Amino acid sequence: MENKHILLGITGSIAAYKACSIVSTLTKKGYAVDIILTRHASAFIGSLSLAAISHRDVFVDEFDGTHESLIPHIELARRADLCVIAPADANILAKAAHGIADDLLSSCLLACTCPMLAAPAMNVHMFENAATQANISTLKSRGWSFVDPESGMLACAEVGKGRLADPEVIVAAIEARLEEEEKKKTQDLPLSGKRVLVSAGPTQEALDPVRFLSNHSSGKQGFAIAKAARALGADVTLAAGPVSLETPEGVERINYVSARDLEAVMKENAPKADFVIMAAAVADYRFAEQFDQKMKKSGDSMTFTLVRNPDILEGLGKVKRDDQVLCGFAMETENLEQNARKKMLSKNCDLLVANNLRTEGAGFQGDTNIVTLMTPETNTHLGLQSKEELGKTILLTMLEIQKGKTSHASVH
Ligand code: PMT
Repeated sequence: MENKHILLGITGSIAAYKACSIVSTLTKKGYAVDIILTRHASAFIGSLSLAAISHRDVFVDEFDGTHESLIPHIELARRADLCVIAPADANILAKAAHGIADDLLSSCLLACTCPMLAAPAMNVHMFENAATQANISTLKSRGWSFVDPESGMLACAEVGKGRLADPEVIVAAIEARLEEEEKKKTQDLPLSGKRVLVSAGPTQEALDPVRFLSNHSSGKQGFAIAKAARALGADVTLAAGPVSLETPEGVERINYVSARDLEAVMKENAPKADFVIMAAAVADYRFAEQFDQKMKKSGDSMTFTLVRNPDILEGLGKVKRDDQVLCGFAMETENLEQNARKKMLSKNCDLLVANNLRTEGAGFQGDTNIVTLMTPETNTHLGLQSKEELGKTILLTMLEIQKGKTSHASVH
């Protein structure tokens, strides 16, 4: 959610000062908050404070030509993921309900295609007035969300419903609405409702604080699978080794360093997953002894003892649920299919992706791969493709395998 743009319209209400707290919380959480102050709002609160808190330009109503954009109402509307009006006075609700566009904020509202949320604040009689209630109903029927005002003593010394909701309540409503919209975006996708757990990158097995045993995995293949899974609508957890890749948007990342760290991450998260994919390049051995201080050189040679690391994939294969689909990788330099098939069967995988490091365009570090997809019954050779495209193919194949498993289970 952190990269989301929120367009905040502040209208003429004594509660306008509370918008500072809303802006501050959203900005600290990493949202980009674009602000439009109506002319009436600017009588209650200064644009300078809001600019300082949001670290962004604040737009004060008129098309005054002081901003870079010549058509700010379109640009602000276009980049908004959510438009919020807080406080929303009776006037803006009436204008929005009737499509009146006579200033920057109301024009922007007409141009917005994003979801809308309003937190009204006004005198109790203005709020309860049939016209205001009809406007709210109209806007609700168009999909607007509302954070109801609270009851209590109002600025006009009357008691009743009309006080702006607490800033924390408004921020919670904003985040809930954004989350709901994210869910909507993914609900019709092939993997919506599925949980995918994928590992990516090398392991590092420390010898001392300076040196370690590792391999050339960049993490690209596993990260590409995580990205493809998210694009297909899944909830994705990515166990990421020591690599410098950016986390794909919407993906939960858990970092690991050694094979034993990775084992712990996989053991904890696999029981919740529908699809488990081990794309990480795991060291089969680690140093028997690890030193707290940097080792000093002595003599012409050194000998170290290595001990076996756990076979994580094999462990996952032993506890696999009937409806869970487990995918392993095999990285080979010779006898690709023979060796890979052996791994698939011994580790109880439903699918295995075999890549040969000696084939150009396959394996470590590049953006492409060339693989054979294996199930216990089939071998499918796939030509050169991007790691993300391959990720999509792997995931859709896993979906078919799962469908087969569950329909088989229901027949028996
Ligand atoms: O990260 P990139 O630069 O994009 O490169 C991608 C890749 C080459 C690393 C990837 O495509 C790949 O082949 N990953 C698996 C690497 C590997 O460890 O292969 P393996 O044949 O040694 O192991 C077979 C399977 O068992 C793998 O799924 C591996 O994750 C798993 N394993 C291996 C050893 C171990 N101790 N525990 C395991 O779980």
